[in-house]
Amino acid sequence: MAHDLLDTAAERLREASSVFVVTGAGISAESGIPTFRGAGGLWEGFSFQDLATPEAFSADPARVWRWYRWRAEQYGDCAPNPGHDVIAQMEAAYDHLLVATQNVDGLHRRAGNVNVVELHGSIADMRCVACDRLAPFPPGPVPDDPVPRCEHCAASMRPHILWFGETYWPGVLEAAQAAARQADVCLGVGTSAQVWPPVALALHARDSGAYLIDVNPEVTSLSREAHAHLVGPSGAVLPDLWERVGR
Ligand code: APR
Repeated sequence: MAHDLLDTAAERLREASSVFVVTGAGISAESGIPTFRGAGGLWEGFSFQDLATPEAFSADPARVWRWYRWRAEQYGDCAPNPGHDVIAQMEAAYDHLLVATQNVDGLHRRAGNVNVVELHGSIADMRCVACDRLAPFPPGPVPDDPVPRCEHCAASMRPHILWFGETYWPGVLEAAQAAARQADVCLGVGTSAQVWPPVALALHARDSGAYLIDVNPEVTSLSREAHAHLVGPSGAVLPDLWERVGR
């Protein structure tokens, strides 16, 4: 990696007072959580049409529940990695820092970040399909029939995840857009940039004046748009970058 790029990125972060971070599945790869796309990605072995759409849930709720139960178990065994830790240290070092994550694994909060917008929901919660009430994701095996029911209205509960074809929850994108607009630096980490709204947030930050850094071992449409593409795994690149910032 070109050292001058790393140093320029570090300089921008040193001078910044407001930072906006957009993360994707890649930041959790070094915690042992598979990404969705690319070699070994989840969407290679599974079809999102059968598992991550409202139609899939209507057709076979028990199957969808089994898949999310399996993922919840995987996540429970994982811990934040040095990439998450750096982003938590950054929140403590800046007056304004917001993480907008596409991940549902909760690892940013477990690393210590408080200002987190979970764009695609959280594996820790389930939600009523009728009245939208949230409840904790149930521990242990989920019965096939009936699947969990809402305590208030007895309708089916579903994982609190934004599925393909669904619109973002009210307020979620707006909160992230506000942080993007005021950012001096936008840090994109570990996203393939295939899902548009999160990419648009990073580009919105850049177009509002932020210096855009992307951390990814691969080239993506976002890394091409960034001022600095820092090539490598975030668990190594972010600690190196943060050490150079020295804040
Ligand atoms: N460090 C940083 N980036 C990494 C690492 C790593 N150690 N390992 C892999 N990556 C990168 C890959 O190169 C890829 O660009 O992480 C990216 C992961 O891409 P996706 O699996 O597509 O994840 P993401 O961008 O978060 O997907 C967006 O799609 O399926 C939906 O809802 C799901 O939130 C998800 C959304």
